[in-house]
Parts: sequence; structure tokens; C-alpha cells
Amino acid sequence: MYGMVNRALKGLISERFGEATWQEIRAKAGVEVDEFTSMSTYDDAITYDLAGAASEVLDTPIEDLLRVFGHYWIEFAGKSSYAILLEQAGKTVGEVLGALDEMHTRLALSFTELRPPSFRVLSDDGETIMLHYESFRPALVPFVCGLIEGVAKRLNVQVTVTLVEAKSEDNPADLLRIQVLST
Ligand code: HEM
Repeated sequence: MYGMVNRALKGLISERFGEATWQEIRAKAGVEVDEFTSMSTYDDAITYDLAGAASEVLDTPIEDLLRVFGHYWIEFAGKSSYAILLEQAGKTVGEVLGALDEMHTRLALSFTELRPPSFRVLSDDGETIMLHYESFRPALVPFVCGLIEGVAKRLNVQVTVTLVEAKSEDNPADLLRIQVLST
């Protein structure tokens, strides 16, 4: 994945748990790079290994860690030069989710080797949103849940995100239900 993702992961760990804990996690993951270049691509294994090592060192389930990373990513991206894309994506959670593919397509103009996920809003009545999430990468649903919670927080609404049906051999997309709790 692009270095921007690994930079954010490092940011989350070192801001919340200190530089020494980050170094311990990096060593445990066997990752030699410390300063990631945002616009360079790195093997996905680096990101997965760092997340796995962080889960062990912090004694936190990886799913919880990925969810928190989702929240952090929205704050991180919201402070970056790409914040405008989040702003233009929409004014409701459903609008933003419906605009994600276009957003990543625009990002791919700068991140030319981007291998983005794909999202499809199946229905949105303002209270319940049904969403398909498709990716060639495994095990990132908790990250997606955190990202959606982070998007909702930016829009000052609360949501609960539930995995309704996980992807399978017959079905390449995870099905998520987003319940919008308050406006
Ligand atoms: C301005 C905001 C955003 C930026 C700059 C951004 C950028 C990126 C980048 C660089 C990657 C790495 C992909 C790669 O290296 O191939 C990525 C992956 C991803 N993005 Fe975004 N993104 C943004 C917003 C969002 C939002 C709001 C969501 C969902 C609610 C989202 C969902 C994902 C997911 C799930 C991945 C993991 C890759 C996968 O599932 O295969 N992104 N994004």
C-alpha cells in the first residue's frame, strides 16, 4: 500500500503510545523502514505485519485496532492536502459512501498505482444504508467500519455499522448495514 497509509499507522501508534512503543512494534514486525514516503508503494505485507505486531504488543484484538485506525485515517486525511475530496464527497453519510469510488478514482491521478476498494450504496432511506464493500485485500472490514464511523463523526452524526454478510467464494462483496442514529 502507499506509504501514506503506513505513515498514518506510525502516527497513530507513536502519538497514542509513544515513540518507544512504535519502535518495539516495528522491530517485532521485522520492518526495516521507519520513515515511509507517502507517495511510494510498499508491499501490503508491511502494513499487515505492522498491524499484527501492534495488536500483540498493545494486547488489543486486531479488529479493534483496525477500527481505531479507520477513525484516525479520517482525521489524518482530513488534515492532508486531500481533505477537499472528503469535503466535496457529500453532506450525508450515504452521499459520501456513494462518492467513494469517484474519490479514489480522483486520488489515482496522483497515486497512479492505487489499487482502491470499491463501494456501492444499495439503498439509503436516510436512516439505514446498505453498502457493498469490495476489495482484493483480505480482513479489512473492521477498518472500513472505523472509516465509516469517522466519516459520520465529521458530519456530526452517529452511526452503528454491522457486517450483515461476509464475502465468500460466490460473492465478492461484504454487505454492511449502517444505521444512522442522530442528526
Ligand atoms: C481524502 C480521503 C482519502 C484518501 C486520501 C484515501 C487514500 C487511500 C489510499 C492511498 C489507499 C491505499 C490503497 C493502495 O495503496 O493501493 C486507500 C485505501 C483504502 N481506502 Fe481510501 N482514502 C480516503 C478516504 C477513504 C474513505 C472515506 C473510505 C471509506 C469510508 C476509504 C476506504 C479505503 C479502504 C477500505 C482502503 C483499503 C484498501 C482496500 O480495501 O483494498 N478511503 N485509500
